Amino acid sequence: MKNLVLIGMPGSGKTKLSQILSRRFGLTALDTDQMVEEAAGLSIPEIFEQFGEEHFRQLETQACQKAARAQRAVIATGGGAILREENMTALAETGVIFFRDRDPNAIVKENHGGRPLLAEDSSRVFRLYETRYPLYLRYAHHHIPHTDTLEAAAEQIALRYEAALKSASSEG
Ligand code: S3P
Repeated sequence: MKNLVLIGMPGSGKTKLSQILSRRFGLTALDTDQMVEEAAGLSIPEIFEQFGEEHFRQLETQACQKAARAQRAVIATGGGAILREENMTALAETGVIFFRDRDPNAIVKENHGGRPLLAEDSSRVFRLYETRYPLYLRYAHHHIPHTDTLEAAAEQIALRYEAALKSASSEG
């Protein structure tokens, strides 16, 4: 059974979606940000502060590769996981990838204290969205456009994931 992988901007609800979907399908919930923090023994803001973004990206690649080896998991990725092709290649080998495309206007309205790339300047959300959008689309097997609620997005993902599993099993 393929993993269910969530990609999308910071603040797009990947972690909460992963909780809903892991319960629904009885899958283990993995979170690459959390895996990075556990491996480093530091929070993400601390990693950025002490070692810089490049070091964080290296740890993130290791976390994506490790998560891709899991079975029966929902994998919530950090918003920048799409910046390295190797991350997405590894995750696509064992998973179906969903891009939750949340309206950046909704994202900026929230508090981003724990997110180093957004905290300083919320206009950054719009710039990140513009530059990353093509990458999210490139790597997603399924694009889930803006929905009013998280539950509606979860429902759309669940239906498409079920269909993907069915077609994989009928292909033998
Ligand atoms: C990042 C997103 C964060 C985290 C790190 C970098 C990014 O994850 O990986 O702060 O580059 O967009 P979330 O998308 O879970 O906030």
